Order: sequence, then C-alpha cells, then structure tokens
Amino acid sequence: MVDEVPFVDITIDDKMISDAVNVLESGRLVKGPECEALENAFADLCSTDHAIGVSNGTAALLLSMKALDIDSGDHVFVPGHTYFATVSPVLELGADPVFVDVDPDRYAMDPKLLKDAIDEATNPEAVAVTHMHGQPAEMDEILEIADEYGLTVIEDAAQAHGATHNDQPVGSFGDVGCFSFYPTKNMTVGGDGGMITTDDHELASEARALRNHGRDESGKHTHLGLNYRLDEVKAAIGREQLTRLSDWTQARRKAASQYDERLQHIEEITIPKTYTQSKHVYHHYPVLVPARERKEFRAHLDEHGIGTGIHYENAVHQHEAVRDRVASTTVPIAEDICSRTVSLPMHPQLSEPDVKYVCDQIREYFQ
Ligand SMILES: Cc1ncc(COP(=O)(O)O)c(C=O)c1O
Repeated sequence: MVDEVPFVDITIDDKMISDAVNVLESGRLVKGPECEALENAFADLCSTDHAIGVSNGTAALLLSMKALDIDSGDHVFVPGHTYFATVSPVLELGADPVFVDVDPDRYAMDPKLLKDAIDEATNPEAVAVTHMHGQPAEMDEILEIADEYGLTVIEDAAQAHGATHNDQPVGSFGDVGCFSFYPTKNMTVGGDGGMITTDDHELASEARALRNHGRDESGKHTHLGLNYRLDEVKAAIGREQLTRLSDWTQARRKAASQYDERLQHIEEITIPKTYTQSKHVYHHYPVLVPARERKEFRAHLDEHGIGTGIHYENAVHQHEAVRDRVASTTVPIAEDICSRTVSLPMHPQLSEPDVKYVCDQIREYFQ
C-alpha cells in the first residue's frame, strides 16, 4: 500500500560517505586526484577529449561562454523555455540573449525558428541549447544552422547526463557542453558542482585557467579568473555516483514508460513525446494539464502524499531581472508550456506501485 511518493529521492549511500571521509582524512581537499579521476570518467561518458570540473552548472556555462569570448554586444540565441541559468551568464557577460521559441513536443529550441532569429540579428555569435528535462534537442539541424552562420554552440546539458542523440552523448555535439551536479540532478556530488566537456584543447585549457584564478599550467595568472573549482570531497562522491548513473537512468526510463502506459489515454493531459533516435534520461517527467486546473491538480496530488514540481513557472524573459534587459520577445509556445507544465515524481527508486498510485490519483482527479 503506497501512501507517499516524494518528488525526488537523492541517493547518498555508505560507500559515498566513506569515500568522502577518506578524502577528508587524506588532507588533500582541493586540486587533487579525485577531481581529475571524475573528469576522466566524465569525459568517457561524453566521449569528449576533455572534462573540467567546476563549482556548479552555472559556472560551467559562464566559464564556457567566457572561454568562447562571448562579450558585450554579442547576440546569443537561447531557448524560450529553459532554466534561468542558461541565460544569466549571457547577461553577466554583457551580451544580448535572443529568445527562440521551442518545439512544442520536444520542449527544446525549434531549429526553424533559430534560423529566422539569426536572419534578424545584427551580431549573431553563439547559440545555447538546453536538453530540456533530459530529452536531447534536435542537434543535427541546430549544428547545421550553426555551421552555416558561423555560430559557436553551447549545450546546456545540466538535466541530461548520459542522454544520447543518434547514439552520440550530449555534451559532445557543440563546441562545449555544460553539466550540473545540483543535488536533484540525475547524478550529484553531494552538493553543488558542475562539469564542462569539450574536444577543443585550447578552450579546455582556457576553462581550466578560468576556474582557478586565471592561472595557466606554469602557475602564471594569464587570465583574469576567479575561483570556480570543484573540491575533492565532492569529486569523490561524484565518482561513485557516476558508476551508478547507467542503472539509475534505466530505472528512470522504466518508470517513464510505466507513466506513458498508464497516462496515455487520459485526455486532459499531455505526456512527454519519445523519439527513437534520441534517448531521454528523464531528469523530469513533465505533463501538461489545463492551465486553469494546475493549482488544483497539484493540490489534489499533494493531499494524497504525491510531490510535484513546476519546471518552470515563467519563461526566462518574463522574470523581473531579465525583462528590462532584453528586446521584445515572442515565445508563445514557451509561455504556454510554462502555464501548463507539472513535473510528476521521478527518481530511480520509483517503484511500479508508486507509479500506479500516482496515475490512479491523476485519473481520480480528472473524473
Ligand atoms: C537547464 C539548467 N541549466 C543550468 C543549471 C544550473 O546549474 P547549477 O544549479 O548547478 O548552477 C540548471 C540547474 O539548476 C539547469 O537545470
């Protein structure tokens, strides 16, 4: 008998705790072998030549954009529907985000609309693409357009560890990939953390310098950099987490297919679409409900012990901190999704009875 289904369930087990304690006892707390080992393992996951551990996913995006020389006046195309942190580094660097609406099924940037936006821009420089909820974006078309117009490509893969498109891992498509290890993500480091992935040797060494006070390998401050390092305790936890990622992803996919099966015939809701060439990792399992019912729908689930989330309540351009700093923005699909989306419980521990219970409660609500 299920009586509570949490929205997330983060695993920090005895092995991770003992790995963390070993690092603490070693006295080597920063710039050590744990971070390097996690970087090597993460580069393997992404099939990239380099992975650079940093303090969080936002830092991964900021340092990547800095290393790519994104600067004041540059136009950076960003999805209308994404987390705030895809866009805040663009503004932090004084560049201009240009919001591009998303594909209503994939929730990621619509390549056709990207092309239109580039045609209208005076200073197109880069595109930042989010693999939203763990579903890979339409990378073939995005890369083709970026190539045609000479744009650099930043993948925001903060929600998509291990996702693939045509069997190629996310984080290896663009000039650079950016990941977050925030505790609710598909893998964590037991707190904040992030990773940059790239095949570009120069970009990698620049990013390494930028995360460590702008110091190059000889110890000279060749850049104006701050401190965005990933410390050893977290890297040790991350290494163990990464060994579990594949099993956890399978468990998420299994739960997602059980949701699909049970929810597909409920007319009032829209479930995530699946694609044979893209392998989703279900960071979230978002459903769309009628906007006017969202609050009540969530309250009903909450009353029955079921945790839900909203990703996200507003499109990024609608936030106060961004509104006055961007040109007029038309992204109706992103705004519509934001008004209707509800993320259902999703984590590797979700059992079939849990999914059944959630779906039974959803059915009961709509009856
Ligand atoms: C799409 C996306 N981009 C960027 C970030 C920022 O990552 P962090 O919270 O580690 O800074 C997150 C996660 O919070 C995210 O979901």
